Amino acid sequence: MHAHIVHAHPEPSSYNGTLTRTARQALRDSGYAVTTNDLYRTSFDPVERGTHYRDRADVVTFAALNEQRHAWKNDTLPKEIRSEVGNLKRSDLVILQFPLWWHGPPAILKGWMDRVFLNGGLYTSRMRYDTGYFRGKRAIVSVTTGAPEKVFGPGSRGGDFQTMLWPIQYSLHYMGFSVLPPFISFGVQGHGYRYEDDKSLQERLSRNLSDWRSYLMALEDIDPIPFPCWDDWDEHGCALRSRSPEPETQINSCG
Ligand SMILES: Cc1cc2nc3c(=O)[nH]c(=O)nc-3n(C[C@H](O)[C@H](O)[C@H](O)COP(=O)(O)O)c2cc1C
Repeated sequence: MHAHIVHAHPEPSSYNGTLTRTARQALRDSGYAVTTNDLYRTSFDPVERGTHYRDRADVVTFAALNEQRHAWKNDTLPKEIRSEVGNLKRSDLVILQFPLWWHGPPAILKGWMDRVFLNGGLYTSRMRYDTGYFRGKRAIVSVTTGAPEKVFGPGSRGGDFQTMLWPIQYSLHYMGFSVLPPFISFGVQGHGYRYEDDKSLQERLSRNLSDWRSYLMALEDIDPIPFPCWDDWDEHGCALRSRSPEPETQINSCG
């Protein structure tokens, strides 16, 4: 079994760094081979642009989807992307580790998705969601917050994790991954606002590392988040009424 951790934090000694090292050890203890892509350490360029492609389909106008498709087909992917695709292909489990920055992942991780989830190669119009390239593989989002747990929820001050993690988790689902529930480390208050004294903070964060280890040691017992799949949509991609959520919680434009 292989696990791949995509680590998006600029400081190795941060709590995010400790979470990644904890995950690595727990997974190795469970029999996984583990690779890590530390995006800051490798100076990953998160900005998708024409200069990444040495053999362009169109040298005048840069269209990312077009160039991704062309580079996949002609085996001219940028080397850091080719290597990351290899890591994902060989993995049974992918973990995205990052701090919550402005109610979402840091830009470097969003850019990783922009560049690594390749059009034409890793997804096509029919090869996505439950028919996605990575079906059968699992993914977990592990995120830290500065604010304490009690301020998160619908209408609360910190925001609602259902909506804040929806873009990243739905994109993993789009790529075919079974997305396990996120592991959220709340109130990591090293350098921001303080909500508790040092002793209780250290004890809580240390317990949290044990919880993370336990989570990873029990993966077989954890059900993925239910997301809508092809059987839930009509030929236009609109939700079939018989399968859609209650009308008041539904947001779509299909009438
Ligand atoms: C640019 C930036 C934006 C942030 N936005 C949020 C936020 O939206 N919500 C929150 O709870 N904490 C926010 N924080 C605090 C970080 O989430 C917190 O410092 C981090 O999770 C702590 O983990 P670390 O010690 O490993 O960095 C932000 C921090 C930075 C630097």
